[in-house]
Amino acid sequence: MARIIGVVSGKGGVGKTTLVSNLGVALAQEGADVAIVDANLTGANLGLHFGLISYPASIHDVMKENAALPDVMYKHPSGVDIIPSSLSMEDVTTEPKNIRAAFDEHLSDKDFVLVDCATGLDRETLTALEMCDEVLLVTHPELPTISDALRTKTLAKEYNKKLLGVVLNRVNRRDEMKIENVASFFDLPVIAAIPEDSSIRKSIEAKNPVILNNPNHKVSREIRKVSDYLSGKARRREKTLTDKIIDLFRW
Ligand SMILES: Nc1ncnc2c1ncn2[C@@H]1O[C@H](COP(=O)(O)OP(=O)(O)O)[C@@H](O)[C@H]1O
Ligand SMILES: [Mg+2]
Repeated sequence: MARIIGVVSGKGGVGKTTLVSNLGVALAQEGADVAIVDANLTGANLGLHFGLISYPASIHDVMKENAALPDVMYKHPSGVDIIPSSLSMEDVTTEPKNIRAAFDEHLSDKDFVLVDCATGLDRETLTALEMCDEVLLVTHPELPTISDALRTKTLAKEYNKKLLGVVLNRVNRRDEMKIENVASFFDLPVIAAIPEDSSIRKSIEAKNPVILNNPNHKVSREIRKVSDYLSGKARRREKTLTDKIIDLFRW
C-alpha cells in the first residue's frame, strides 16, 4: 500500500516543487519505489526540475481518459517515476477527475507517491488534497508565509489528512523566527530546516536536483532528514556529534 503524501504550503514559491523533486530522489536512493506527481494542473513545472520538457502524454490525459496512468509515468535515471502535468494552455480547463482512482489502481505497489500540490485555497488545491492521505507543510520562517500555511493546515485537517510535520525552507542565520516557535505555531514537528542557498537555483537551471548534484551539501543533508523521517530512520538514529554542532550554529 503506497503512502500518498501531499506537499502543500499557503503561498506559492516557497519550495514545494524543489522539495518534491529532491525528496523523491532521496527516498529512491534509500531503496524506496517512488512516484512524484505534478498536481499543479494549471501551472506544470515538476518535470522541468528533471529536464523533462516534452512528453507525449500527461496526467491530464488520465483525467480525460485518453491514457492509463502507467502511460504517463516517465522513469528518471535516479529511479523516480515522474507523472507530469500538461504544459498546454488547452488543458487548463480539463476536469480534474479519475486521478485518485488511477493511483489506487496503478500505484498501490509503490512505497511513496509524493504529490506536488497547487497553491492557495481554491479548487486546484482541493483537488490535489483529495489525491493524498498525508500532508507535509512547507513554509519560510516568516509570519506571513506561516499564516498562509496555517490556513492550508486547517483545510487539510478538515479533509481528514494526516499532518506529518513542517519543512522550513530558505532558512538563514539572520532569521528571527526560531524552530521552536514554528513548531508551536503549527503544533507539529519541524522535520528539517533547508537553508537559503544558491545551489538550489543552480540545480534547477542544471535540471538536476541538488541531492544528485551535490549529495553532501547542507541542503541535501536537510532533505535526507525528511526522507529519513518518512521512512522511519530518524526514530532509529541518534544524533551524531556533527549533527549537534550543526544544530548549534544553525540559529
Ligand atoms: N532553499 C532555497 N534557497 C534558495 N532558493 C530557493 C530555495 N528553495 C527554493 N528556492 C527558489 O525558489 C523558487 C521557487 O521554488 P519552488 O520549489 O518552485 O516553489 P513552489 O513549488 O512552492 O512554488 C525556485 O525556483 C528556487 O529558485
Ligand atoms: Mg511548485
